[in-house]
Amino acid sequence: MANEFEVFNFKCGKELLEKCEELKLTIPFENDTGILKTEHIINGKALKNSLVVLPMEGCDSNDDGSPTELVYRRYERFAKGGSGMLWMEACAVCKEGRANPRQMHINKGNAAEFKKLTEHIRASAKGNIYLALQLTHSGRYAKPGGGLPAVIAYNNVHLDRFLPGNVHTITDAEIKELEEKYVEAAALAKEADFDAVDVKCCHRYLLSEFLSAYNRMGRYGGSFENRTRLLFDIIRRIKEEVDIDIVVRLGAYDEIPYPDGFGVDRDEFRKPDLGETKLIAKKLSDLGVKMINVTGGNPYYNPHVNRPYDVGPYRPPIHQLNYVYKLLDAAREIKAAVPELKIVATGFSWLREYGANIAAGCIRDGWFDMAGFGRQSFAYPDFANDIINNGRMERNKCCAACSRCTVMMRDGMVTGCPVRDGEVYMPIYKQGRDGKPPAAGVKVKESL
Ligand SMILES: Cc1cc2nc3c(=O)[nH]c(=O)nc-3n(C[C@H](O)[C@H](O)[C@H](O)COP(=O)(O)O)c2cc1C
Repeated sequence: MANEFEVFNFKCGKELLEKCEELKLTIPFENDTGILKTEHIINGKALKNSLVVLPMEGCDSNDDGSPTELVYRRYERFAKGGSGMLWMEACAVCKEGRANPRQMHINKGNAAEFKKLTEHIRASAKGNIYLALQLTHSGRYAKPGGGLPAVIAYNNVHLDRFLPGNVHTITDAEIKELEEKYVEAAALAKEADFDAVDVKCCHRYLLSEFLSAYNRMGRYGGSFENRTRLLFDIIRRIKEEVDIDIVVRLGAYDEIPYPDGFGVDRDEFRKPDLGETKLIAKKLSDLGVKMINVTGGNPYYNPHVNRPYDVGPYRPPIHQLNYVYKLLDAAREIKAAVPELKIVATGFSWLREYGANIAAGCIRDGWFDMAGFGRQSFAYPDFANDIINNGRMERNKCCAACSRCTVMMRDGMVTGCPVRDGEVYMPIYKQGRDGKPPAAGVKVKESL
């Protein structure tokens, strides 16, 4: 069957394009990747090219949320890798919001440690580097330890089966307090010399959960105005109170059936309906946000939607290129609707080295402005240098789309690429598979 899932085995760009044609997917492709050298300016600050490292959590911070040696190692490699922007990983705004007890967490006690990290990153990069810190509350996926509950906006028939025993539905009063936490975290990020904070609104973490809170009562559920209130209130307050750029990683669609999903056709949830997503993007622009990253899916419920893979927890219903296409096409549709926003697209790692050619083709055709690479950054941290200096990426350095980085997270370990960065991460991967040690047991220094 033409549409079937298959392991990536294209020997040249032409074969990949033939497959796209067979699947009736029109994806631009450009042999000359020179356009990816295009610089961008955000609020007067230069991004030296159109390549972005997407947020990739290492689950390897200290107990207090400050960076460990592994965090330094990861960002030094990214900085030296040549991308114009590091969209840095999920960083909790409060202890209760951590996705695991080793998630980054910026607070008054450790902001100085984040300043040292940004200094190190800037010193490691050749030329400018634009740094955004992704602020988050993990909501239903919060596992902060210490007996703290997961936090939901509303009960969801599709997602509640992943919940732990201890769950709390956040009240309207608590939501107001949470706003404060985002503002405090943004102020600390400013002190730590980040260029921007990302008010993360994707992948069904807390803020994005509100976008589909159709059936929640009160000020944060029901109407579009109510469901988007928290996101916009946080952005308005950061804008008023902190002198820092704001970017947003926006989940355009989550492929969960309506009314429990967002950005989906009401009758066919696998079909994105970006009507409300575009309204959000326009409003973000009106509020002074200059750049968004377009993403989709939910990494727990349907990981194939955001992270097309060759090896994964199940066989997705259709060919991986369909999911790549949906991500790129969502970025195209949002760019067409709100052209003044700089749009960073997601969806390139499964494409291996042709990710560079497809990014170049899409940017040439005006689909979006910049290309973000997630798993590829773990596997191939200097992918940007290869594109900028040699015009191409090398297949033998590319992400294998084997899901091992995700498996490590789910095993409660620190994560990275056990395939291309095996000396550090293969022993940790194996330890996790053997079921030892559990969550908080990894000795980060010993693994270096
Ligand atoms: C191990 C791992 C960690 C991730 N951490 C984050 C994160 O902290 N924040 C976020 O928004 N997305 C996170 N993602 C999702 C990626 O940023 C990206 O959306 C996804 O991998 C798809 O892009 P790719 O095909 O280039 O990998 C993570 C993904 C993986 C596999």
